[in-house]
Amino acid sequence: KRNGIDFAVADLGLAEFGRKEIRLAEHEMPGLMALRREYAEARPLHGARVAGSLHMTVQTAVLIETLVALGADVRWVSCNIFSTQDHAAAAIVVGPHGTPEEPRGVPVFAWKGETLEEYWWCTEQLFKFTDEAGNVVGPNMILDDGGDATLLVHKGVEFEKTGVVPTVDDEDLTVSDEYRIILDTLRRSLAEDGKRWTTVASDIRGVTEETTTGVHRLYQLAEQGLLLFPAINVNDSVTKSKFDNKYGIRHSLVDGLNRATDVLIGGKVAVVCGFGDVGKGSAEALAGQGARVIVTEVDPICALQALLEGFQVARLEDVVGQADIIITTTGNKDIVSAELMSRTKHQAIIGNVGHFDNEIDIAGLARFPGIRRINIKPQVDEWVFPDGHSIIVLSEGRLLNLGNATGHPSFVMSNSFSNQVIAQIELFTKHEEYNKDVYRLPKILDEKVAKIHVEALGGELTKLTKDQAEYIGVDVEGPFKPEHYRY
Ligand code: NAI
Repeated sequence: KRNGIDFAVADLGLAEFGRKEIRLAEHEMPGLMALRREYAEARPLHGARVAGSLHMTVQTAVLIETLVALGADVRWVSCNIFSTQDHAAAAIVVGPHGTPEEPRGVPVFAWKGETLEEYWWCTEQLFKFTDEAGNVVGPNMILDDGGDATLLVHKGVEFEKTGVVPTVDDEDLTVSDEYRIILDTLRRSLAEDGKRWTTVASDIRGVTEETTTGVHRLYQLAEQGLLLFPAINVNDSVTKSKFDNKYGIRHSLVDGLNRATDVLIGGKVAVVCGFGDVGKGSAEALAGQGARVIVTEVDPICALQALLEGFQVARLEDVVGQADIIITTTGNKDIVSAELMSRTKHQAIIGNVGHFDNEIDIAGLARFPGIRRINIKPQVDEWVFPDGHSIIVLSEGRLLNLGNATGHPSFVMSNSFSNQVIAQIELFTKHEEYNKDVYRLPKILDEKVAKIHVEALGGELTKLTKDQAEYIGVDVEGPFKPEHYRY
C-alpha cells in the first residue's frame, strides 16, 4: 500500500514506459476516447465499483482509465497468469498524475508470470473496495474475461449456502490443482467472514463478459437458474467477436509464434483446431505467411467454410505426423493429447489461443514416461520424448498470443472495449430493468461502435435515402440488419 492505494505489480519504476505506450494506444482506440468525450460531464459510472478481471495490457489500461473518466472506482487483475504487461500495470497504479513514490491511480494486482496461487489471491483482492467511511466493501459491477471473477463469487455463495465444499466440475477449471486453490481461497475468506460472498453477490448489479468461454459459463449458470445477477454478453456484439476474435488473432497469433520461436512459417504445415471466429483468424494468418493450413472441426458448417476457403479438413490423429505447427482455438478441452504430441515431427510447435489451458494436455505430457522438459526462455519449453524427438510448447498451453506476445492490437480492442464500457453503463444505470439472465447489447449500439471506427479509418458510409430505407424496411439511421443476420 502506498499513498492509500493497495496494489501488487512487478515494478512501479516501469510506469513511465507504460504511460508512453498508453498515450500512443489512446490514438489507436478512437471508440474509447469518443466515449470519454461523450460522457465527460454525465459521468454515468459515478458510484460504480468495478472489479475487472481482464488481461492487464496497454489496451486494457486505456479501458480502465475510460471507466475512471466516466466516474467509476476500479480494481483490476489479469485473467491469465502470463498476460500482464508489467509496464501497463505499473502505469495504471501510478496514474497519469502520480509518481512511483506517490501513486494516484488504480489498484492493480497483476504481474507477468504469476503462480496459480498468486493468481487466485489477486482475484480475491478485487473484492476489497473501501467505501467513503473506510469500510471494506465489495464491488457493485464485474467486468470479466473468461468468468473467473464471476466464478469465485458463485462458488463462494454456494459454499456459504450449503456449507459444503462445491463439487469439482471439470468445466470450471483448467486442472484440478487449480480447483483446490480456488477452494483454499474461499475457505480463507470464509474464515474471515462467514457470509462474505453472499453479501458481495447481493451488491453486484451485473457482469459484462468479454469472451466466448466466459459467456458459455454464464449461459450454463442462467440455464440452471443459478446466475446471481444480470449479465451482458459482450463477446457476441458483432463488433467484438467478428473483429477481436478474428482480426485480433490474425495479428497476434503470428506475433506470438515469431517472438517465441522465430521459425519461418512459410512452407510449413500448420494445423488449426477449430474454425470458429478465432480459428478463422488463425488459419488466415498462417496461410498469409505461406503455411499449408489444415483445419480440424466437429461442426460441418465451419468445416465447409474451411474447405471453401481452400483449407484441407482432416482429423488431428490422421495429420499429426505432418504438422510443423499445431494451434488450438476450440474453447473445448482435450484437443491435443500427450499421445498425439508424442507422434509429431521433431521440434513441432504446439500452442493454444483458446481461453483456457485444457485444450493441450500439458499435465499428461509432464507424466509421459521418460519425458524431459528443457526451458528455452520464459513461456517457451522444449519437451524431449524418450525417442529423442522433441516438441516446442508455448506458454505452457495457455493463450500464446498474450503469453508470448502482447495480445491483440489497440484498434481492434477499441471495438471490444467500447462494447464493454457501453455494457457497464447499461447494467450499472438500468439494472432494475434486467433479470438474472444473459443479454446482448442492442444492434444500434453495435453499429454505433462500428461507425466510430469506420470514421477513424477514413471510411465514408453511404447514406440511405428515405425511399431506399422504406424499400428494404429499415430506418435511415439504422439498425440496418435484422437480429438474425449473421455478417
Ligand atoms: P467459436 O465457438 O466461434 O469457435 C470454436 C470452434 O471450435 C467451433 O466452431 C467448434 O465447432 C470447434 N470445436 C469444438 N470442439 C472441437 C474439437 N474437439 N475439435 C475441433 N474443433 C472443435 O469460439 P471462438 O470465438 O472462436 O473462441 C474460441 C476460444 O478462443 C474461446 O475459448 C475464446 O474464449 C477464446 N478467445 C481467445 C482470444 C485470444 O486472444 N486468444 C480472443 C477471443 C476468444
